[in-house]
Amino acid sequence: MDSDYPFVPWDGPTDARVMVIGERPGYDETRGRPPRPFIGKAGLELFGGWDDRGDYHAGHWKKWVGVPREEVRVGNVVPTYRHGENPAPWEIDEWGPACLHEVRRVGPDYVITFGAHAARYLLQTDLPMDLLNGCPHWYTHIEGVWSSAIPIVIPVVHPAYALREPGQQDALAEGLRAVRRALDGTLAPVRPLG
Ligand code: URA
Repeated sequence: MDSDYPFVPWDGPTDARVMVIGERPGYDETRGRPPRPFIGKAGLELFGGWDDRGDYHAGHWKKWVGVPREEVRVGNVVPTYRHGENPAPWEIDEWGPACLHEVRRVGPDYVITFGAHAARYLLQTDLPMDLLNGCPHWYTHIEGVWSSAIPIVIPVVHPAYALREPGQQDALAEGLRAVRRALDGTLAPVRPLG
């Protein structure tokens, strides 16, 4: 389906060891020159940087995970913006296969999803985020075949949700600390649960 806003493409190295997959870009991402994922408020919350007022944000990713953004392949399940809307099922059906294709093309060791829609799509599960947050799973959904191949998928609550709901800040930090432990090999993945 066409959008009046520019498509926000994947960003970062195509041989990255870590991929970050969000839900869909916000308006700020479409305004980037060029459009880039996670450069709006949620992106600042996550990856840090300077805001429009010249204030610096430390970024939870840097604090807890530490892998530089420049080494991460970053994108979204749905790469188009629609005002104030979560991805609809038809959009995920339409764009999801391209996202899976990108995961196969890059072949990362770890895929970090942000938000329930991305987690549920990648892991083909209906489980709620409070159960999924920070729990590493073997990513096994490759072209409809379930196998025990890498990468490891780690769902984390969305930084935009943590911005809206102060109580979710702890959940975001908890999810990202678990990402660090999974990267260090001290938190073992499970098989996707229904
Ligand atoms: N920006 C993105 O690129 N993706 C999100 O999911 C949220 C903000």
